[in-house]
Amino acid sequence: MNRKGIILAGGTGTRLHPSTISVSKQLMPVFDKPMIYYPLSTLMQAGIRDILIITTPEDNAAFKKLLGNGKSWGINIQYAEQPRPEGIAQALIIAEDFLEQCPSALILGDNLFFGGQMLNSLRASVDQIRGATIFAYQVSNPSDYGVVEFNEKGKAVSLVEKPEQPASNYAVTGLYFYDAQAPAYAKSIKPSSRNELEITDLNRIYLEQGMLDVQRLDGGATWLDTGTHRSLHAASQFVSVLENRQGIRICCPEVEAFKQSWISKDELAALAQPLIKSGYGAFLLKVAQSGKA
Ligand code: TTP
Repeated sequence: MNRKGIILAGGTGTRLHPSTISVSKQLMPVFDKPMIYYPLSTLMQAGIRDILIITTPEDNAAFKKLLGNGKSWGINIQYAEQPRPEGIAQALIIAEDFLEQCPSALILGDNLFFGGQMLNSLRASVDQIRGATIFAYQVSNPSDYGVVEFNEKGKAVSLVEKPEQPASNYAVTGLYFYDAQAPAYAKSIKPSSRNELEITDLNRIYLEQGMLDVQRLDGGATWLDTGTHRSLHAASQFVSVLENRQGIRICCPEVEAFKQSWISKDELAALAQPLIKSGYGAFLLKVAQSGKA
């Protein structure tokens, strides 16, 4: 059974107000492309072609206008709505029919992953059909995230959401691979004190069963979230510096589709045409002409 992808792109974005009062956070630009292109590219890099995008009811039309049904990128995009931001784990319940008992990869719409080693971890995990895999990343502010505690053998032993006294500096990133049980487990979770179905509670179910694989993203990998004006600006700077230095563009879904051989050189060149003026299209054309990304 092929793994299917879910991008959770609802939420209220209150930490980005007033910028996100009338525009979804996940449609804001991170340097030269909309934020959602980054998690979408991450799923595509993992070889995932069936993708459900979950948005607020108000923002659904804008996402459809941007991404359509995915056909021209060789993928299948469907849409669902989350009426209220009732927690990240609710995504699995909303996606239940779409998943059709397949394993899933859930990614948060405001998370940006980048780096070679990352790709190896993704590819290794995508074929794992039983249990769950999450990715931990060392940060300076673990109390802002779900935190993983490891024992002396490097095995994950606890998961705590936003701890005051974090047991490690390893934060749980917004990318989660689950087996087909996840929607049923998500339904068994009770809302937390902030009235959300917590993803940490879902992950803890797998941990307690000995079915949670925690991969540490070290070295070459980069994980950024973009939930505040400062972190959004930092992510834009990161992308700008990297792209300018190397003369490339990162996380372009069109290029990921081409790398996976889901679209041809000619199809990539055709996608470039309407985007020439921004420079984005010129990069797509360069890739199409050289035949390599
Ligand atoms: P958060 O950044 O925790 O929440 P938010 O986006 O509503 O922002 P703020 O805290 O500023 O109000 O969410 C992380 C990601 O998960 C983000 O991409 C939005 C998404 N999300 C949902 O789509 N639905 C939800 O119920 C929650 C909790 C998050």
